[in-house]
Amino acid sequence: MKIKDSIEGCFQLMGGDFTNAGTASSELKSILSKLGVSQEVVRRAAIAAFEAEMNVIIHAVAGTMHYVVSSEEVRITLTDMGPGIQDIELAMQEGYSTAPDWVREMGWGAGMGLPNIKKNADRFKIDSVMGEGTTLEIVIYTRKD
Ligand SMILES: Nc1ncnc2c1ncn2[C@@H]1O[C@H](COP(=O)(O)OP(=O)(O)OP(=O)(O)O)[C@@H](O)[C@H]1O
Ligand SMILES: [Mg+2]
Repeated sequence: MKIKDSIEGCFQLMGGDFTNAGTASSELKSILSKLGVSQEVVRRAAIAAFEAEMNVIIHAVAGTMHYVVSSEEVRITLTDMGPGIQDIELAMQEGYSTAPDWVREMGWGAGMGLPNIKKNADRFKIDSVMGEGTTLEIVIYTRKD
């Protein structure tokens, strides 16, 4: 990859905005492709970003997706204002979801988003404060292996 220093940007996310759901992660995907990041890294970043974006739309009030791309890594940070996650360990379990029925009827709420983010990230960190919001940090190494 021929990235000097680093490239970064930010998308705004709105809770409940299913009309634009997936826009930020698909734009990030095309930015990474244009930068010449390997297809495998683009794929993993796009999956993780999409699940994290959906979580803000489904579970939070509003948030941002910030990305930094360097020759070493893609770093995606999501910060939201929302209810927060009471038990992060429980939330990380496959199949655990608090999504209401109307969200499940749209096909979301399988409880697979966070496990899927973890699976696709090289480093993954969640911080959450109840009643304030949640921050996710997703790092994917761009090194060729
Ligand atoms: N940004 C967030 N703010 C508040 N709660 C969250 C957030 N992200 C996840 N959660 C909590 O963690 C649970 C598990 O999240 P996960 O993404 O794994 O599943 P899901 O969003 O419920 O379903 P799926 O991702 O399969 O559509 C959620 O049901 C919710 O309770
Ligand atoms: Mg989810």
